[in-house]
Amino acid sequence: MILSRCFLPLAFLLITTTTAANLSSKLSPVEFLKTTSPHVVLSAEFPTPELHSLFEEWKRKFERIYDSVEKGALRKLVWLENHAHIESHNSQNPPASFKLSHNDFSDLSNDEFRRKYHLGEYSPGIFLPKGRDDGRWISSGRKLRMAEWYDLNEEEEDEVDTSTVEDVPDEKNWVEEGAVTEVKNQWFCGACWAFSAVGAIEGARWIQTGNLTSLSTQQLIDCDLTDMGCGGGLMSYAFQYDEDDIGLCALEDYPFAMHRHWFYGCKRYMAFCDPLPHTKVAKYVNVTENSEEAMKAAIATQPVSVAVTAGGVNWQFYSSGVFNESCETDVDHGILAVGYGHYDPRTDPDVVEGADSTQAPMDYYLVKNSWGSWWGMNGYMRLGRNLGNEEQGGTSCVLSMASRPILKKED
Ligand SMILES: *[C@@H]1O[C@H](CO)[C@@H](O)[C@H](O)[C@H]1NC(C)=O
Ligand SMILES: *[C@@H]1O[C@H](CO)[C@@H](O)[C@H](O)[C@H]1NC(C)=O
Ligand SMILES: *[C@@H]1O[C@H](CO)[C@@H](O)[C@H](O)[C@H]1NC(C)=O
Ligand SMILES: *[C@@H]1O[C@H](CO)[C@@H](O)[C@H](O)[C@H]1NC(C)=O
Repeated sequence: MILSRCFLPLAFLLITTTTAANLSSKLSPVEFLKTTSPHVVLSAEFPTPELHSLFEEWKRKFERIYDSVEKGALRKLVWLENHAHIESHNSQNPPASFKLSHNDFSDLSNDEFRRKYHLGEYSPGIFLPKGRDDGRWISSGRKLRMAEWYDLNEEEEDEVDTSTVEDVPDEKNWVEEGAVTEVKNQWFCGACWAFSAVGAIEGARWIQTGNLTSLSTQQLIDCDLTDMGCGGGLMSYAFQYDEDDIGLCALEDYPFAMHRHWFYGCKRYMAFCDPLPHTKVAKYVNVTENSEEAMKAAIATQPVSVAVTAGGVNWQFYSSGVFNESCETDVDHGILAVGYGHYDPRTDPDVVEGADSTQAPMDYYLVKNSWGSWWGMNGYMRLGRNLGNEEQGGTSCVLSMASRPILKKED
């Protein structure tokens, strides 16, 4: 790969370009710009001609135009810092079980990334909307426009997940089977919960009818008032929204707007679309917590909505292989589990330069993200399975909060 040939750790770059007085200090990009002119940073020689042209190439590919010299210089420094991280991760010995690469997020620091995508400390307590601890209570401050469908007095009984398939196959790939729509991009709207829930309903609909159609996440963002639109939500609340004979419109008829339509919202836009048949949720079931076996059986049944912790820099730049970091913080992101299997790097045609060929095969879950198809493996990721971290909630906490919708039977 071209990139690995011009790897230089950023600390070294900074040392070579700062004065002797600062030899031992590693400055952040912002601090560095206080000591060096942005014109110097932007020059074709900084920090080396090779790295400069890689950055320029990346800018062209991702269509970046910065509107000031200062901003351009800061973004270049952030990019270089990310480049150093990617290169050092990829050149570890023994090699890591997954690779990183540049993508649309390369000029964001990890802190900026978490802030923009509502992850980590910037997650708005994403799975427990404010003022509700059970998802059944609507704050009096917010108008309940669809009260007729939301029965506040209905008692929720805990469902035990008994409807999974009996013969659980060794491998499953719903993408190959045709149950998964194309990868979406949530941009800076924190509605991962809606993308995850809609993906699960799309899959259930395909299983019931053989028809694969992208459904509207915007409908959930506007109309599901238990969740908080682009401010966060929970997949099981989204299924609950759909439990009262509403159904979902097609994506095409109710497209993604990247923000909640507050004023005319749901009422206005729903008038222009008809929910498709076979999109009504009868009920949803929670997958038993922290069990690899239960998760495998659930995915064998249908694509499953799962929550993960996704704010780390290695999530930001994941590109291939099996991600294996354990569950250390609270979940902050919703995605869709669409398969599982065994990954053997020795037979992977995508493995570059043989680095992975020394690795043992690993079990994985295949998950679909909503960060666009530049991220990961065309928008997908493999999360480690059976790695012995079940008790802690699985790789990236994937086992800790999973649910799947069961559709109403319709003619
Ligand atoms: C050295 O780095 C500090 C920040 O850590 C900066 O304030 C100072 O101006 C730098 N000195 C020189 C000579 O570049
Ligand atoms: C992930 O795998 C690498 C080797 O491929 C290993 O060194 C590391 O400890 C693993 N991380 C975790 C959290 O298991
Ligand atoms: C599923 O889990 C969520 C989150 O833990 C909980 O709020 C909900 O009541 C559960 N639903 C069912 C049907 O068990
Ligand atoms: C799938 O359903 C959509 C929406 O009802 C419809 O427009 C489309 O023609 C169907 N596709 C097939 C292949 O039946």
